[in-house]
Amino acid sequence: MTVSPAMEPTATADRQIPAREALRRRYLMCRPEHFAVTYSINPWMDPAAGADAARAVEQWETLRSAYLALGHEVELIDPIAGLPDMVFAANGALVVGGRVYGARFTHAERAAEGPAYSFWLRANGFPDVLEPVHTNEGEGDFLTLDHMILAGTGFRTDLAAHQEAQEYLGRPVVTLRLVDPRFYHLDTALFPLDGGNVAYYPGAFSSGSRAVLERLFPDAIIADERDAAVLGLNAVSDGRNVVVNSEATGLIKLLDEHGYRPVPVDLSELRKAGGGPKCCTLELRTA
Ligand code: ARG
Repeated sequence: MTVSPAMEPTATADRQIPAREALRRRYLMCRPEHFAVTYSINPWMDPAAGADAARAVEQWETLRSAYLALGHEVELIDPIAGLPDMVFAANGALVVGGRVYGARFTHAERAAEGPAYSFWLRANGFPDVLEPVHTNEGEGDFLTLDHMILAGTGFRTDLAAHQEAQEYLGRPVVTLRLVDPRFYHLDTALFPLDGGNVAYYPGAFSSGSRAVLERLFPDAIIADERDAAVLGLNAVSDGRNVVVNSEATGLIKLLDEHGYRPVPVDLSELRKAGGGPKCCTLELRTA
């Protein structure tokens, strides 16, 4: 006699999804007035194809409006001519507990952005700034959870910077190794859903780092290659609302099923430089 499927326990069918709680955030952004693709420092960038700054500004405005509509605060840093990637504010620093771990860029083309962001932060209520010894690209490679900071290495941020950030910020830093050049920053392959869980694309990580992620986050949302390939993992969650690239349809469905509220945005012009919503967003954390 076979057991009918209806008689099997249905634990997953009536799994309770917790109510997700949004926390008000404070973000720093940079309008892409000087946006362009004039050099190539990641596989997304094709200087021959270029990019349209006016279209980038339009799309960026929809991102900013989405944050404001969600009740978040958005501060602006003035864009600087000659720094076409400055729109990617996430790379400008790491701000945790009101302290700023400054950025030190890998490529000469972006080097001037580090001091520009540090200068703004100092002038706007964040006097404690560490100018780093080691190469690191701010929140592009450092993602903050309640009890730890996840840190990427392999393409941009030096392993030594993970130690430097841990020592300065007094938070445990967990190293994750990136192995796919399309996902050159941690924030292109993983994002925090809240203070204790993440969504990620396993293919971006070394096998050891995948095992670390499985151990730390058994309930993570696992995205597939198609969602990763439109930079769907470059998303921003406030604990409930998740601002995510609109083309990441599989991930959007998963988020919805897990009780999050997807807020799709089209940032396709900025993706020509290898960026999405998170890249355009630096969180200013006072706690
Ligand atoms: N063109 C920029 C670079 O390659 C894009 C940076 C995207 N930022 C990010 N946080 N992933 O450096």
